[in-house]
Amino acid sequence: MDYMLQWRVLPLLTLLASFLFLFYVQHSSKSSHKECSLLPYQHYWITSKRIVTPQGVISGSVEIKEGKILSIVKEEDWQGKSKVGHIVDYEEAVVMPGLIDVHAHLDDPGRAEWEGFPSGTKAAAAGGITTLVDMPLNSFPSTVSQETLKLKIKAAKERIYVDVGMLSNLYLSLLIILGLVFLTILPTGFWGGLVPENAFNASALEALLNAGVLGLKSFMCPSGINDFPMTNASHIKEGLSVLAKYRRPLLVHAEIQQDSEIHLEAKDGSDDAHSYSTYLKTRPPSWEEAAIRELVAVTKETRIGGLAEGSHLHIVHLSDSSSSLELIKEAKNGGDSITVETCPHYLAFSSEEIHDGDTRFKCAPPIRDAANKEKLWEALLFVLPVTWSYGRKYGVTLEQLALWWSERPAKLAGQELKGAIATGNLADIVIWEPDVEFDLNDDYPVFFKHPSISAYMGTKLSGRVLATFVRGNLVYKEGKHAPAACGVPILAR
Ligand SMILES: *[C@@H]1O[C@H](CO)[C@@H](O)[C@H](O)[C@H]1NC(C)=O
Ligand SMILES: *[C@@H]1O[C@H](CO)[C@@H](O)[C@H](O)[C@H]1NC(C)=O
Repeated sequence: MDYMLQWRVLPLLTLLASFLFLFYVQHSSKSSHKECSLLPYQHYWITSKRIVTPQGVISGSVEIKEGKILSIVKEEDWQGKSKVGHIVDYEEAVVMPGLIDVHAHLDDPGRAEWEGFPSGTKAAAAGGITTLVDMPLNSFPSTVSQETLKLKIKAAKERIYVDVGMLSNLYLSLLIILGLVFLTILPTGFWGGLVPENAFNASALEALLNAGVLGLKSFMCPSGINDFPMTNASHIKEGLSVLAKYRRPLLVHAEIQQDSEIHLEAKDGSDDAHSYSTYLKTRPPSWEEAAIRELVAVTKETRIGGLAEGSHLHIVHLSDSSSSLELIKEAKNGGDSITVETCPHYLAFSSEEIHDGDTRFKCAPPIRDAANKEKLWEALLFVLPVTWSYGRKYGVTLEQLALWWSERPAKLAGQELKGAIATGNLADIVIWEPDVEFDLNDDYPVFFKHPSISAYMGTKLSGRVLATFVRGNLVYKEGKHAPAACGVPILAR
């Protein structure tokens, strides 16, 4: 009899255990969801006198439900609307689509320093950035194949994954209990690397693209990372023809090393790096011009009817505003699918303003050390105030900011549901006060570890970020972050 009883009780016990387990998992997933946001509502309205939409700036309300923008109502149409849900009134503050940084280096796996990672992603959210797209180098190994992308996703998931899956919820709860929330709070996408090793191998590139990278990235000069060698125009041409099928872009660091007066490459710590003018001479505009001449010869294939029609070439952080820019304009006018970006450093500073020995201002060479990495994160934190403070001297409008920092990057990264405050889009939103001036030293919350190395320290900037929403979650509010990191890896389909 005892024997029989055992056989009946065991399955029952197992069943009971499973129920308890499921209950725990469900419960933990709910509580972790609450931790994702500083606002305890799933359905609410954001109200403001200045909401930046693709149709212009309006006064009204944005309805958000379960992470998406459900409706946008102008103030004059508000009467008679039933106000279901909580209302968050931001009055005169600007409500804009969240910024998308397509140029992040998360250095992970392999080169991540744990303490730098959470501070960096927090800085991004505090700067109004709601999405990061990770560059394929600086992590080890570089993201140049299907296998290395998998490593990257795995590394990201262990830190940013919350929404689905039992293991991850348990893992998150465990981390919270231990007080070790080393998690990124932003959705993160990935670029893959175009390198000589995979450029002529269409099946390797296709595998990488099938695995979900949003596009490819390559260098026309040494990247500074051994497992990320530079490509030439032939590699780029091959890459574009594969990308064409996927309608995804190629991002290129456009500099070709030429003989210059000074042959030493400026490296941190070398004497030559001490003077900024010396540094500038080692990377003269002619390097960019040489690269862009080769590129525009290749981008002809991106025209309608060309071998690479459907692909797109994007030049990252161009600093030469003269002949290089002219060449790009010409190509664009001819029908080439080509765009260019610059970085806030180039907009904010000119070389005459930079004192010798001030290595904080280096932007072109790849990241090599901790100080440089901090500089990148600091760039994230100050994207909005810096672009705005310097840009508005040149008449930059809120609509233009939204176009540059949200709509266009979203398009580049193929994110149709991001980049604009529009019905049906994800509720990725930044709330900020463009007219509030502040001194960097005193007033602004600084999240990176070595504030003294910030190039902007001591300057007066305007534009203070009040709040950042990611998929409807209030992840940042006036110096405070949501307790849990609820970013998701973004993969191309
Ligand atoms: C091309 O890439 C595939 C997949 O990575 C690999 O199996 C194959 O050996 C490569 N072919 C050449 C010629 O290198
Ligand atoms: C680019 O490099 C490859 C070798 O990886 C070589 O076969 C090709 O001729 C080079 N193309 C140009 C334009 O230099």
